[in-house]
Amino acid sequence: MKTDVLVVGSGIAGCAAALTAAREGADVLVVTKASEPEDANTDWAQGGIAVTQSDPKSFAADVCRASDDTADPDAVDVLVSEAADVVNDVLVDTLDVDFDRAGTSSSEDDDFALAREAGHSERRILHVDASTGEHILRPFLAYLSDHEGVTIRDDTAALSLLTEEGVVRGAVTLRDGEVEPVFAGTTILATGGIGACYETSTNPPGATGDGIAMAALAGATVSDMQYVQFHPTAYDPRSDPNAAAAEADDAPEPFLVSEAVRGEGAVLRNADGERFMPDVHEDAELAPRDVVARTVASERDATGRVVLDVSPLDFRDEFPDLADLCDDRGVDPDDGIPVAPSEHFLCGGVAVDDRGRTTLDRLFAVGECARTGVHGANRLASTSLLEGLVWGTRAGEAAAEQGRGAAREIEYVAPDDRDPALPKEFTEKKFDRLGETMDQYVSVERTPDGLRSARARIRRLKGEADAYARTRVSRSLFELRNACICSLLVARAASEAPSAGCHRLTESEEAIHADD
Ligand code: SIN
Repeated sequence: MKTDVLVVGSGIAGCAAALTAAREGADVLVVTKASEPEDANTDWAQGGIAVTQSDPKSFAADVCRASDDTADPDAVDVLVSEAADVVNDVLVDTLDVDFDRAGTSSSEDDDFALAREAGHSERRILHVDASTGEHILRPFLAYLSDHEGVTIRDDTAALSLLTEEGVVRGAVTLRDGEVEPVFAGTTILATGGIGACYETSTNPPGATGDGIAMAALAGATVSDMQYVQFHPTAYDPRSDPNAAAAEADDAPEPFLVSEAVRGEGAVLRNADGERFMPDVHEDAELAPRDVVARTVASERDATGRVVLDVSPLDFRDEFPDLADLCDDRGVDPDDGIPVAPSEHFLCGGVAVDDRGRTTLDRLFAVGECARTGVHGANRLASTSLLEGLVWGTRAGEAAAEQGRGAAREIEYVAPDDRDPALPKEFTEKKFDRLGETMDQYVSVERTPDGLRSARARIRRLKGEADAYARTRVSRSLFELRNACICSLLVARAASEAPSAGCHRLTESEEAIHADD
């Protein structure tokens, strides 16, 4: 099959790229491995989308401050200067997203309600209750499905990139057990993050780092992989006394408790009922995310439990979606919601320029799988949907220009699929092992010894995945291989980089006491 522009992934960044490329007259094929295209990270996004208000400088300053002053100022400038226009054009005018309104009538004459989250010096976040992502993504996919320039294929996994002398010519895909090459003028990776590398993550299980792994294997530059952001407040069944009583099979699932809840006044308390954040940072619970995550982890370790006390606000009224999630898990918010940090967002990824161009010709990357430089070492809350929208739009335009009429078939060798498929339990077990390793050694605090152990374990897992993938073609095996590659990239980068933002490298206990 041939297309002008191939987009791999159907979250907000992929959709924005597809929309813009189609508006520019390109034929666009969007492939997603999910059986429902909306099964993307974007659909799980709660808080919202930050938009520049009267002062772009203060937004830029907040992005840079949250990043520990490691963000690329030029990239930040692109983000904040284009935010309002792209949100208005795509989300408000084209998709008519029903963002919450400030007035009591909820009529279209009311101004949008703006929320505040950690690290923001003012209210600037558009949202729909605490399920903003799904209210954006579903209309987006519906709109694209009706667009004559766009075809969306679900249940279609990209296995590898097709390359010819360093130029990317599309991707090999797998659908219903059939391998098919898709030859494309340009290819845009929009595959999201790496949550599946960890045992606890706020991402959906499909976040296996496919785009990053495929790009790395094809020789693209991947950078800043040490910057894995942990969200400080995911519901933590392990420190919930009610959940602890449940059988393993019935144990409640973790879920994200949006930072917007702290933005409206919720506070964190340890097992002794003490509020601890004001002693750590002048912005207390609204300090940058990495600071709050590390402090929550250490208070939980020290006292056994941290809860989010929602009594300062009318939780049920202000966050009905989250109240429903609490009810579903048997959590009474009036008792405080037990929370712990959980893997949330990768700030690094495939290195791209201000149009989403990677270091390989005809290959683009957008959204969480890309490293634009906007987030540096730590992402500011509610900037991921915005980054996906801005870079998706820019990359879509550039990819259309380069890709129109440029697809051509090249010779390719179909993957070898001669051995019988492995049982599903095989990859599930390996994913469990990978997740335990990453949670134990490559989490909010890392030590040189821990990272060495992690790398050795991940290398073994990757060796097994590679060996099986040589003669078998299955989506789960490729996902395992991709997750192992991304985990190794994270552990390796973390071993080599000094601490900054969400990467904290400390001496191991043994090293600290070596001279005692
Ligand atoms: C949240 O709602 O707390 C998550 C928002 C984000 O990660 O930007």
